[in-house]
Amino acid sequence: MSVKITGIGHAVPDGVLTNFDLEKMMDTSDEWITERTGIKERRIAPKGSATSEYAARASRKAMDMAGVGPEEIDAIIVATLTPDMKFPSTACFLQEKLGAQRAYAFDLNAACSGFIYSLTVAKGLIESGAARKVLVSGAELLSTIINFDDRSTAVLFGDGAGAVVLEDVPDEEGIICTALHSDGSLWELLNCPGGGSVYPISKEMIDEKLHYIRMNGNETFKNAVTRLVEVTREVLEKSGRTIDDIDLFIPHQANKRIIDAVAKRLGLSDGKAYLNLHKYGNTSAASIPIAMSEAWEEGALKKGDLLLISAFGAGLTWGSALIRM
Ligand code: ACO
Repeated sequence: MSVKITGIGHAVPDGVLTNFDLEKMMDTSDEWITERTGIKERRIAPKGSATSEYAARASRKAMDMAGVGPEEIDAIIVATLTPDMKFPSTACFLQEKLGAQRAYAFDLNAACSGFIYSLTVAKGLIESGAARKVLVSGAELLSTIINFDDRSTAVLFGDGAGAVVLEDVPDEEGIICTALHSDGSLWELLNCPGGGSVYPISKEMIDEKLHYIRMNGNETFKNAVTRLVEVTREVLEKSGRTIDDIDLFIPHQANKRIIDAVAKRLGLSDGKAYLNLHKYGNTSAASIPIAMSEAWEEGALKKGDLLLISAFGAGLTWGSALIRM
């Protein structure tokens, strides 16, 4: 049995927030943001938008490409840390928007690694017979948890969604191998503590700004490079391939310096690491499917290509997957 990606799509808000716009809002500069991160602009959704709206737009494109109708979808997984509501799941809102009435739907939160975690779960659902066609969307409206008074995090994140359709295609190679890891002991490096059971919504919680993203950037950076290199090598070794076999590497789009360091340590040839973070910033679980969809549209990713994807995020979580497109 082979579980293949048969459709890819993405959707981002129209609203563009450039580094020059941020210069007017806080003590920062286009030069600092570009040099330290590679980001030039990001997309920001209008206030009151739902994460599931963007997931639905991305999903419709992925389903069109796959030629799969809503009634054919057996399961929907939404990877997100910015759900429409605390409950029900964003996947249930997405199901309703798509009219995918037969599907069972649930969210998965593994922060920026959520898309690769979801692909792994979807592959398992198909292989076990629990589903034949699965829709996976990575969708985030991170602007809803950005603290625009904190320049060290506010410049990094953006909004958007990507989606893929997964199906059993017996005679073709598909998702060849995935690897996932977590280390909960390092949760303090990157989190959004407010609004959960530990810090329920209260005036004090909001006054202390606990409902916003908090990050130790330097430590997160170091862990990201080490773990991304480890898990990418693990997937290559497990599948008996080398980095030279790869047609395209799509890492989580957090920081160009992280991607450059990882590509160098892996010995990846120039031009094989796909980058679109200059346009969107870090969109967490959405970053890899948005990049896959854009790469596909541009012809940088084609049918038959060997695609390597790797992500790292809060938890800490990290993972990688080797995919024949
Ligand atoms: N504009 C101008 N100056 C700034 C800004 C800003 N936006 N932000 C910080 N600075 C200043 C700092 O105050 C500091 O000044 P000081 O030297 O006077 O104290 C100086 O710039 C250097 O700050 P550092 O934090 O050391 O800068 P660094 O080079 O580490 O870059 C960054 C910071 C971009 C956040 C980097 O650490 C990073 O990318 N970390 C990883 C983030 C990441 O990958 N997250 C992934 C997962 S995301 C998820 O799971 C949701």
